[in-house]
Amino acid sequence: MFRKILACLLVITVLSGCSGQNPLAVFFKKKKERVRIGLSIPTTREARWQRDLQYLKEAASTADAELYTEISENNSAVQENQCDALLKKNINVLILAPHDARAAASIVDKAVAMGVKVISYDRLVLGADVDLYVSFNNIKVGELQAGYILRKAPRGNYMVLSGALTDNNAKLFHDGALKILGPAEESGMIKIVADVPVEDWDSDVAEKITEEVLNRYNNDIHAVIAPNDSTAGGVIRALKKHHIAGLVPVSGQDADVEAVHRIMRGMQTMTVFKDSHNLATAAIGAAMSMAIGEPPPSNSIMYNGKGQIPSMLLEPVVVDNSNIVQTLVQTGYLSRGQVYYDDSGNSGGRNTGMTIRNVPGNTAGGVY
Ligand code: GAL
Repeated sequence: MFRKILACLLVITVLSGCSGQNPLAVFFKKKKERVRIGLSIPTTREARWQRDLQYLKEAASTADAELYTEISENNSAVQENQCDALLKKNINVLILAPHDARAAASIVDKAVAMGVKVISYDRLVLGADVDLYVSFNNIKVGELQAGYILRKAPRGNYMVLSGALTDNNAKLFHDGALKILGPAEESGMIKIVADVPVEDWDSDVAEKITEEVLNRYNNDIHAVIAPNDSTAGGVIRALKKHHIAGLVPVSGQDADVEAVHRIMRGMQTMTVFKDSHNLATAAIGAAMSMAIGEPPPSNSIMYNGKGQIPSMLLEPVVVDNSNIVQTLVQTGYLSRGQVYYDDSGNSGGRNTGMTIRNVPGNTAGGVY
């Protein structure tokens, strides 16, 4: 009975977007001690991680949990030290988004030894006894990217970038993309002329790789699979230098405000929206139930090299020039000001204030 009520509350919370009086908060106020949650995220370089951080803090505060936060800035040794410190804070649950999927296994081992539950957040920790994985259907992200780009460019030379080799998501996105591109290549319609990982998802690295490929193939590149919006930004800077930006379809992911502007200006073809508000709410909800010994809701199982990990995978959504308002503004992920007036979006805010610096169609303003 208790489990059913809890599951219902979590689902309501995830689906209702956490506005107003949150049923989780009401429910857990009845608990005497505050739940203590450690949070370790790998970076805040991309806007999406700034948003995750903000939403996780908001969800923890709504649930009246104590949240201790660390950001490891793409360094696995730093992340391990920071997690050691979090584990000393007598936390009930560790929410861990690993910089390096394999290196983070030792963090999980230590948590398990101390009886601390571990939620692998967005990125799966490999080779360790994680209690729950909360993320999106990441294979589908790659399928959506490649499927969309293939419809735009059914023939020609493809450049495929993938994300950081340390990040299991990068592999899943790449696997998903190749599921779609593989048959097209076998049929002779397309040729993948470059297939390159981008260290730390770095925009400048993506730019450099793209320039090299463009030089080597004399600009004869007809489509680019960029795994996320930061790498897409680098790709598009290189295409601009070669005067072919807007002519070559480029994918992305994360619905970063800069990417949305590039889509509106025809420079980037699409992005994939993964609502980190829902992700954060699901993770905090799960942490709250795990803290009282209840199994959190899950909808699939992922093998991580050590065991079958119960997983809650949310659905990614394609965004292109036709549905920016419905997918991003109406859901409250970006404000109208961010979309139409070039508010930076870097605050990580949901419907934050707006700075009017650049109106749509005014390409001279430049957001690249
Ligand atoms: C991935 C994440 C993407 C993107 C990338 C770069 O793990 O799933 O959404 O943000 O990291 O940080």
